[in-house]
Amino acid sequence: MIVVSHRGPYSFTRNPDGGFDARRGAGGVVSALSPLLARLGDDERALWVAAAIGDGDRAAVRAGAASAPGIDLALLDLDEVQHRLHYDVVSNSVLWFLHHGLFDLPRRPRFDARAREAWDAYVAVNAGFAECIAERARPGEVVLVQDYQLALVPGMLRERRPDVPVVHFTHTPFCGPSSIRVLPDHMAQALCRSMASGPAGFHTRRWAAAFAASAREVLGPGAGDTTFAASFGPDLDDLRATAASAETAAATADLDDLLGDRLMIFRTDRIEPSKNIVRGFAAYDLLLEEHPEWRGRVVFVASIYPSRQGLAEYLAYANEVDRAAARVNERWSTGDWQPVVVDAEDAFARSVAGLLRYDALLVNPIKDGLNLVAKEGPALNRRGGVLCLSREAGAYDEMGDGALAVHPYDLVQTAGALHEALSMPAGERDRRAALLAERAVARTPAMWLDDQLARAGGPAGA
Ligand code: G6P
Repeated sequence: MIVVSHRGPYSFTRNPDGGFDARRGAGGVVSALSPLLARLGDDERALWVAAAIGDGDRAAVRAGAASAPGIDLALLDLDEVQHRLHYDVVSNSVLWFLHHGLFDLPRRPRFDARAREAWDAYVAVNAGFAECIAERARPGEVVLVQDYQLALVPGMLRERRPDVPVVHFTHTPFCGPSSIRVLPDHMAQALCRSMASGPAGFHTRRWAAAFAASAREVLGPGAGDTTFAASFGPDLDDLRATAASAETAAATADLDDLLGDRLMIFRTDRIEPSKNIVRGFAAYDLLLEEHPEWRGRVVFVASIYPSRQGLAEYLAYANEVDRAAARVNERWSTGDWQPVVVDAEDAFARSVAGLLRYDALLVNPIKDGLNLVAKEGPALNRRGGVLCLSREAGAYDEMGDGALAVHPYDLVQTAGALHEALSMPAGERDRRAALLAERAVARTPAMWLDDQLARAGGPAGA
């Protein structure tokens, strides 16, 4: 089996001894797949093809040191300029914004000559991946291509290697038929044609249906009917091992010192516009305004860390997040109580400590393919914590009936959900927490992988 994703399972940095340290990559695909693939026996050993991202990865590739435990790793050393246009411009500023509904349409996007050049780079990078896989795939070997950065790979690979079964899986939402028309025709056609050329998976039926409708809009009737929905949940063994680690124990002790017997609202996210962090703080501000009883009795701990800092929108959003947190603190802090505590350290153990300890977990994205935190939290939490979950997160389909629904744009409603979460009687909290804990692990990474392999075996149906 060959797994293909833009970001690899490990990132490499040079260490002082001249060797390389490997650190597990970020994101849901990596956390779901790497423990699973690393556990496969030697005869089933998977090849993972990804891009070398950053100087450390590139140096490791050139030194022949980019290797990972239990997995054969091929990191592509791409042309740096092309790669930047592929990643920063098309993948993150166009496709991510399109699928998460983030465009401010009167102003953006603008498909000028530079955007055409960026699109050519996107095509070239996808072709580089397809080329590498075509060379390395054994006859009939299944290829599982992940996500929007590589949406052209399935079509390109089918042309080069018709013998190889290819499945594409998108971890983000997919935009609907009116939004796909925002893209220039050649882009919309290329993306839809490639993804519709075989099984195309999504975390929920909703995103699968949106893709199918977009494909019909762009390509005509019948297109996009090879979609399927298959979600995953956390790798429980892996999560429990982190929960039992010394790093998590230290982070838990820090939290205990910080909180004492106060209640805790928690969130953990990469700082990006789709996560809706600013509105989360604004809703908390409203909660403190309307419910004075919570002042001094609750702390909102936000474990939020930088993402995609090559993009101006992300840097600007990170500033807005800082200001929104500071505003709440300026308004409500007292001598012995700080209402918002931002933890900017990107350490999984610190997030896990928060997930074990929360009384309310706020997951309020504008849109999200799945949102693994919405499952990791209930799988780990030990306090009957309440999940406040955006209806726009893919995970809502599975977790919604145990969660409190959050309308991501409605601050009054969100503040109300936080209030309800903090005031919920113990019996009701426990009932919901037990239901959510069960749901969180009902779909394992292994089931998700099997669903893709099953689709690879024959024609897929919705
Ligand atoms: C999240 C999304 C994935 C996406 C990844 C990319 O994890 O769920 O769909 O592939 O972000 O993140 P990156 O940091 O590589 O741009």
